[in-house]
Amino acid sequence: MTMPAATRPLRVGMIGIGTVGAGTFRVLARNQATIAGRAGRGIEVVVVAARNLARAAGVVGTGVALTNDPMQVATHPEVDVVVEAAGGTGPAREWLLAAMAAGKHVVTANKALLAVHGNELFAAARAHGVALAYEGAVAVSIPIIKALREGLTANRIEWVAGIINGTTNFILTKMRDEGLGFAEALAQAQALGYAEADPAFDIEGVDAAHKVTLLAANAFGMPVRFADAQVEGITALQGLDVACAEQLGYRIKLLGVARKRDNGGVELRVQPALVPATHLLAHVNGSMNGILVKGDAAGVTMYYGAGAGSEQTASAVIADLVDVARLDGTNAAQRVPHLGFHAHAVDDTIAVLPRAAVHTRHYLRVPVHAAQDIEAVGAWLAAQQVPVAQVALATDKALPPGSGPQVLVLTDAVAQATVDLAVHALAAHKAVAGPVTSLRVEMLDS
Ligand code: HSE
Repeated sequence: MTMPAATRPLRVGMIGIGTVGAGTFRVLARNQATIAGRAGRGIEVVVVAARNLARAAGVVGTGVALTNDPMQVATHPEVDVVVEAAGGTGPAREWLLAAMAAGKHVVTANKALLAVHGNELFAAARAHGVALAYEGAVAVSIPIIKALREGLTANRIEWVAGIINGTTNFILTKMRDEGLGFAEALAQAQALGYAEADPAFDIEGVDAAHKVTLLAANAFGMPVRFADAQVEGITALQGLDVACAEQLGYRIKLLGVARKRDNGGVELRVQPALVPATHLLAHVNGSMNGILVKGDAAGVTMYYGAGAGSEQTASAVIADLVDVARLDGTNAAQRVPHLGFHAHAVDDTIAVLPRAAVHTRHYLRVPVHAAQDIEAVGAWLAAQQVPVAQVALATDKALPPGSGPQVLVLTDAVAQATVDLAVHALAAHKAVAGPVTSLRVEMLDS
């Protein structure tokens, strides 16, 4: 006799048994009773697809079927939910579409896949009445999707900002605190399993852009708009600017920012930015992530936790499995919508603002021929409509040996277009001795 769906164990098929898959398998086994108590029934992995079957057998032991064909898992008749833990945006899309077409719920931590193909995949999930859950896709251990989608539903979200890539935060922390070189710090992050298969995704800001795209969709009720995000990583960041920022009372963090502007447009961007050294976010170090959400009713709330790691991601993947175990068999219209808003309320007219229209404070570092050029630089910027708030000379402590004088400027909020023009024109000023660096400054207050 077949057991009713609500009482028999939820049967899981896993695609991929690498860092995320193995962590999920391990935590499911270790915390079986606790998880079943919360889910109302057991959660059992029945089949796993892996490239290396011998290695997979070493992880899952006996009693779990193994295959090297992910499609077999996606369409397996005994599977209720497919966990996609393989990564990538090519075949993974096919597997998810096939699984959903076969009536299976899907859980994934694959932020690249959802950022690039999310609109299609969420539409398919709706069409087939299945869940497509992705808590592990953003800031792994932090239940930020749940916070946005459920905990903060009363609020008009004004902005979301945070450190959402563990690898780059680990690198920046190692460089600042231990004086490690970029390459060595990256190698350590890779050895610890934090980095993406292609670490360029981390250091070029792409991974953070995938995540902030998903946060923006949930915060503002807009489609997934990764293609419109402005993305800048940490590869061009200079140690000199880290030191000059410290002198001014700031730290540099790679931030993902999604901000709804009064004109209805949304800023969607990733960049290294100065954060006040006294702000809690400045103290989010190592591979930890920190996210701030500003709601009109709740005010600013902050979320902190591990941003990468095997069991840290498993924590989110299993939370999604528990949700699926609870909702399986219920009416799809009564479930929490995939992107926090019901499909009819998602506004596809919301535009992502171009880089030129982004409005923030800025930090400029201007190499000059002589210390007294500080006067000329300050006056010239003010004449270019750049609202100068503070001008200082970099101290000897901030400067590497042999460096010429550097004028440091902090501005009030100003359009990026104005700053870009001023930086470009400043290059021709007779007082200026080299390329001008500009970085955004985020005060992260209400
Ligand atoms: N490479 C990612 C990071 C893993 O470093 O944050 C978690 O998404």
